[in-house]
Order: sequence, then structure tokens, then C-alpha cells
Amino acid sequence: MRPQPQAQPKSKTSDELDPQDRALLEEAAEAAETAYAPYSKFSVGAAVRTRSGKTYKGSNLENAAYGVAMCAEVAALTAANTAGDFDVVAIAVLGHPAGEPTRGHDIVTPCGRCRQMIYEASWVSDHDVRVICANGDGSKVNTWKISELLPSGFGPSTLGIDVKRFRKASE
Ligand code: THU
Repeated sequence: MRPQPQAQPKSKTSDELDPQDRALLEEAAEAAETAYAPYSKFSVGAAVRTRSGKTYKGSNLENAAYGVAMCAEVAALTAANTAGDFDVVAIAVLGHPAGEPTRGHDIVTPCGRCRQMIYEASWVSDHDVRVICANGDGSKVNTWKISELLPSGFGPSTLGIDVKRFRKASE
């Protein structure tokens, strides 16, 4: 039997979020406007919040060699790490057809590879990273923990490695 679509939890609107989450989603929306997506014509934005309260943005970056495209979530996580602040507590993600941020569309959740990358970050920060996912205009928002989006994940503990010591936090 093919995979059956899971029933989604009842979504909220971005207005119903707490101010910190709403602000992070707004940063993800700003980031989506920087997407380089001439092939899929689908813009994705992500914004990471670290324990220090700082935020880092990323957008998808496509390529004529389709398979090497980079997702928005990975770009945002990389920005945080490069800033020396890889102590991630939350990530907001949204997407919409390029140039149509107000078109309804479905909630965008991280792809499998991005879930794996967020899962790694959660081991470094020792925090079950919150993943705030929305559609293009913020009329539908659902929030999960990464352990819910990637249950029974393969991670550093599988290899017996303690990655907490790789946590970086800027002053
Ligand atoms: N994309 C992301 O940026 N993040 C995801 O989690 C899913 C997909 C991008 C990749 C590609 O540029 C476009 O969305 C369509 O797949």
C-alpha cells in the first residue's frame, strides 16, 4: 500500500503565534524573497533562532545541475554555524510559488535531508528544536518538535559521539 497522507494537526494563523515565533516566521518570509529558484519556481525561506536570541536566515539556491540545489533550512543552519552560534532552539520554514507570497498553498515542512540536518543541530544544542512551518501567506501554521518530524532518527548518539561540545554561542 502506498504511503497514506497523515492527518495534519489543526493549523493556526501566524497572528495566533507567540510574538517570538511570529517574528521568526516573518524573517523566513523575508528570506524566501531572496530565493534563487529559476527551475522549480518555488521560493522557500527559513530562519533559525539560537539560544542567545539571535536569528539567521536562508533561502533555497538552485542550480542548472538540478540535484545540487541547496534547501533554505540548510542555508539558515549554515549561516548560524558560520556565525559561531550553532546553538539552535527553533527554525521557521515557509514556501510559496515564486513571486506569489500571498497565494494560499499548503504548509511547507522540511524535506527528509533537512530534517536530518535539524536533528543533528538538536543534539548539538541539547534541545528538541521547534520547527514552525507555514504556507506562503501565514494563514496556516503548524509547529512540531524535530523528534516528531524525524522519529527514531539516526544521530550522533547512534555513533556514540557527544556533539554538545561542538555547540558554539556568540556573546
Ligand atoms: N526546498 C527547500 O528549500 N526546503 C525543503 O525542505 C524542501 C524543498 C526547495 C528545494 C527546491 O529549490 C524547491 O524547494 C522545490 O523543491
